[in-house]
Amino acid sequence: RLKIATIGGGSSYTPELVEGLIKRYHELPVGELWLVDIPEGKEKLEIVGALAKRMVEKAGVPIEIHLTLDRRRALEGADFVTTQFRVGGLEARAKDERIPLKYGVIGQETNGPGGLFKGLRTIPVILDIIRDMEELCPDAWLINFTNPAGMVTEAVLRYTKQEKVVGLCNVPIGMRMGVAKLLGVDADRVHIDFAGLNHMVFGLHVYLDGVEVTDKVIDLVAHPDRSGVTMKNIVDLGWEPDFLKGLNVLPCPYHRYYFQTDKMLAEELEAAKTKGTRAEVVQQLEKELFELYKDPNLAIKPPQLEKRGGAYYSDAACSLISSIYNDKRDIQPVNTRNNGAIASIPPESAVEVNCVITKDGPKPIAVGDLPVAVRGLVQQIKSFERVAAEAAVTGDYQTALVAMTINPLVPSDTIAKQMLDEMLEAHKEDLPQF
Ligand code: NAD
Ligand code: G6P
Ligand code: MN
Ligand code: MN
Repeated sequence: RLKIATIGGGSSYTPELVEGLIKRYHELPVGELWLVDIPEGKEKLEIVGALAKRMVEKAGVPIEIHLTLDRRRALEGADFVTTQFRVGGLEARAKDERIPLKYGVIGQETNGPGGLFKGLRTIPVILDIIRDMEELCPDAWLINFTNPAGMVTEAVLRYTKQEKVVGLCNVPIGMRMGVAKLLGVDADRVHIDFAGLNHMVFGLHVYLDGVEVTDKVIDLVAHPDRSGVTMKNIVDLGWEPDFLKGLNVLPCPYHRYYFQTDKMLAEELEAAKTKGTRAEVVQQLEKELFELYKDPNLAIKPPQLEKRGGAYYSDAACSLISSIYNDKRDIQPVNTRNNGAIASIPPESAVEVNCVITKDGPKPIAVGDLPVAVRGLVQQIKSFERVAAEAAVTGDYQTALVAMTINPLVPSDTIAKQMLDEMLEAHKEDLPQF
């Protein structure tokens, strides 16, 4: 039976992972799930770990749940390692969201300056985990959710020998569910050809029961007030109908930061003054969730978890793990080495694209070129991710400044430098490489 190690096990999303493993136990016989955290996360780990134990017990499924602060012990002999940690916690995220706003720049977890800094904090830890994996579980798959998932996958592919790595996100699943709802059908009847990068992915073609319905879906999504395709953490401001119809591919919710920068910035500034930034809202949501998790009578994933933007991401992880383990050869959108699937992105880089999931990992499905209207933006974000990953690995100040400046959400080199300096100072405890 399989051993899974989950790093950042104290995450409020863990019950979803456990639910996914319980649901699939008949095809994915997991013997041990090791939830790993750090001393700061011990209390969360214990609460969520106790709930996980109640869940498997109630379901009558023989998965042993282990809680530990000893990462090496958890990694030893693991078959799959999943990573869902947040270096610096939600406080660090709140800084990523608030500091750029002072400079009139979008403050966001995975985009712009915030995405850069989340990467700078996360990549050294991922590389450290991989060093441990090489020694303790050299054949294991690394399934990474830790954001920025695209940049993290890029860093692993470029700076380590770990080939068994897959980056995962719930945005494609969310888009599929959103489209299904607009069409009034079950999500399993909808298929979308996804291609792009993490949080920069497009639906190139949409099918219902195998028949292409892209134009119809674009018409439905092109509503000026509400597109119907979004995530809980991203406000849905609708799209200019003629823009979307002209583009004729389905953008992901994160594209709003690029195509609606002024409106999204205004929304963020307003939220920062009133209800708080997303990290501040999530701090409250998380308190409520952990209060629920403490209830000794609770033995299922509570529906309130759907208020988090990442809802369904751990379920996506379980289906990915099962398809690798069972060599299912079904199609799932994941972050993997491009290998020529998207012509305008370097073959060695990470992309988010539909793949056939085999026991040897994801095999990306060839897309050819992206539509010319979006190709340049995707390439620019890939350049940003590459330079940012290099800065994270080297700790080189000038490289970090270049990454900050070439990000499309940053207006100038001077503002880039001011934000970089303020954010380096604010996050210095989590940036040992600088
Ligand atoms: P969280 O703040 O609850 O963090 C999870 C746990 O990680 C915490 O218990 C924390 O103590 C622990 N942690 C921090 N540093 C650690 C380290 N070095 N080693 C081990 N554990 C550590 O975060 P969350 O909201 O549950 O999100 C977790 C991560 O998953 C974030 O990076 C988030 O961006 C990402 N996420 C990704 C997706 C996706 O689509 N890929 C969806 C949701 C969340
Ligand atoms: C989306 C993204 C995740 C991100 C999350 C934020 O679903 O795909 O990568 O971490 O939302 O959600 P939160 O509830 O933390 O704002
Ligand atoms: Mn995501
Ligand atoms: Mn078409």
